[in-house]
Amino acid sequence: ARVVVLVSGSGTNLQALIDASTKPDYGVEIVAVGADRGDILALERAEKHGIETFVLETKSYADRAAWDVALAEAVAAHAPDLVVLAGFLKLTGPAFLARFGGRTLNTHPALSPAFPGMHGPRDALAYGVKVTGATLFVVDEGVDTGPIVAQVAVPVLDDDDEEKLHQRIKTSERAMLVEWVGTLARSDFHIDDRAVRLGGAPT
Ligand code: GRF
Repeated sequence: ARVVVLVSGSGTNLQALIDASTKPDYGVEIVAVGADRGDILALERAEKHGIETFVLETKSYADRAAWDVALAEAVAAHAPDLVVLAGFLKLTGPAFLARFGGRTLNTHPALSPAFPGMHGPRDALAYGVKVTGATLFVVDEGVDTGPIVAQVAVPVLDDDDEEKLHQRIKTSERAMLVEWVGTLARSDFHIDDRAVRLGGAPT
């Protein structure tokens, strides 16, 4: 399957996907990596592996809607079967979802529906939960609300701070992402109400 990955940061999730995709039986070819900002480690990781990159900064567009249209076009130019948001810090909009809804995955560092938004690990610590984790889901118009593909639980330890907890979550998050992107890329999938089911949609 052809996969476009969108990133905003350090790109450890991207790196895990790149490493997995070097094995032919993984079934994933990362055809491009896109970002909403330049000068990030994630783009360097892609370039190092000879993967094409593109950057679309919101400030270069008249408004968010124009940026969203441009993002949809930039991704479509690579004709992906699947889009993976791997630490992409922007919400995709209606133009993007019209084209890639139902086949865009995102990962969130908390157990949805708990602690949506930008600060999953911090919010979990502040609440005092003893277990948190990561959620892989199919992107919809909400913030971390889409149909859930997989979740992994991660313990919160007594001496955790936000950074320690986030790093522990990210270790499990990467393994989950690699496993499920491969599974979904190899077998096709469809959404039945909120359930993500392997195989093509029944007719
Ligand atoms: C991940 O924890 C992801 O869930 C969150 O941002 C982090 C991205 O890390 N949205 P990286 O850029 O893949 O290292």
